[in-house]
Amino acid sequence: MKVLIVGSGGREHALGWACSRSSLKPQIYCAPGNGGTTQIAENIDNIDAEDLISIIEFVKHKKIDLTIVGPEVPLVDGLADMLKKSKCKVFGPTQKAARIEGSKAFAKRLVDEAGVPTAEFEVFRKITRAEKYLRELCSLPVGAPIAGNKPFVVKASGLAAGKGVRVCSKLEEVIDAARDMLEHGAFGKAGSKIIIEEYLNGIETSLMAFVDGEDYLLLPPSRDHKQAFDNDKGPNTGGMGAFSPLDDLTSEDTARIAEKVFPPILKKFVKQGTPYSGLLYAGLMLTDYSKEDKGVKVLEFNCRFGDPEAQVLLPIIKVDPLEIMLAVAENRLKQWMVDNDLEPHDWQKLTGDRHAVTVVAAASGYPESYPKGMLIENLPSENDDVILFHAGTAIKRGRLVTSGGRALDVTGLGGSHKKAVETVYAAIEQVKFKGVRFRTDIGRKEY
Ligand SMILES: Nc1ncnc2c1ncn2[C@@H]1O[C@H](COP(=O)(O)OP(=O)(O)O)[C@@H](O)[C@H]1O
Ligand SMILES: [Mg+2]
Repeated sequence: MKVLIVGSGGREHALGWACSRSSLKPQIYCAPGNGGTTQIAENIDNIDAEDLISIIEFVKHKKIDLTIVGPEVPLVDGLADMLKKSKCKVFGPTQKAARIEGSKAFAKRLVDEAGVPTAEFEVFRKITRAEKYLRELCSLPVGAPIAGNKPFVVKASGLAAGKGVRVCSKLEEVIDAARDMLEHGAFGKAGSKIIIEEYLNGIETSLMAFVDGEDYLLLPPSRDHKQAFDNDKGPNTGGMGAFSPLDDLTSEDTARIAEKVFPPILKKFVKQGTPYSGLLYAGLMLTDYSKEDKGVKVLEFNCRFGDPEAQVLLPIIKVDPLEIMLAVAENRLKQWMVDNDLEPHDWQKLTGDRHAVTVVAAASGYPESYPKGMLIENLPSENDDVILFHAGTAIKRGRLVTSGGRALDVTGLGGSHKKAVETVYAAIEQVKFKGVRFRTDIGRKEY
């Protein structure tokens, strides 16, 4: 069979890597791919992940059997719908279902109507209304300055490449952030509608599942680290590392959390006539570990695999992800689960006792400005416990160079969390390119 993977990051390399090990023995293409995907796929580097027309033409021309869409933008733009209209199989939700990521306002309403716990919120288009709301909420008299210490979170509703959220500790900051988005076009159209929501204290956790209508297969819980520097300091990035599973959550805990989140949302989608199909990512805040469901509240949904989470999840599952993605694309996930004797929350059966940690080697200066084209040397050797996923690399005149801020990701595996952490750091310390930088604390405070 022929598989096309759309995208060019570490997530897409991980998807391609998983497909390359599949018993279905696919011929793999990656559009546009990166320096690492050349090892497992043919890169179609003249087709950008957001160039829907060219993707459709390629799929038809090459008679691709399954298109796997990595990033959110083409999904939110309707790539899955266009492929389906052309009778081509796709792993990824339709435009209407992808709104769960494309519009945070839509997602919050859906979550609320489905009775899934989430932070208290309001949606605004006008700064005057946002001001009035804050005034009322904080009992500030008319005319008094909006001042004081009370945390809120301000979110641009549309896609903002992970930069559209401001966590504010002071009321002045809340109004500034809202004004930046609504009046000064901080995120363009994505910020023309905003959400102001209650700040939640707790521990962040991600839960991802393969979804086909109301049926789902949960993947192990994972945790990612978005901040650039150790101890979660510094600016937000696309992700500096992740690990899975989590020693602080048993499989019973995860089942109770998932039960609160997935079935109500999936039912709601089906009821609306826009069933979800693909990978659904729930970003969660666990606000109270004394409760059975850990006080779970949904922060957001994404309509695709997380990156770097894909790089820990795909290597630890013992089943064949390509088989699952094909089953989802063909609306037969339930039958596949029956055939493989799997229930929705059986993620421990999927992983056995495998743990994984991914650490990202980034260019100095990332996520602000950073140089490209640095020669990458000393790649650690890969084995059953060390995998290299390329995120921003390219092959120039036969040599591997950096082409992005997040250049090379290393995944370490092991029979325990500690072992996986030791393995990943022993490997990533070898990677050399000018200015290479990585976080030294991924997964380390957890043991
Ligand atoms: N209500 C909240 N309370 C506390 N922190 C939050 C809240 N909402 C978001 N955050 C923080 O901001 C980050 C980004 O928010 P999120 O909703 O995941 O948007 P995105 O990933 O699109 O930027 C979260 O990972 C979390 O750390
Ligand atoms: Mg997020």
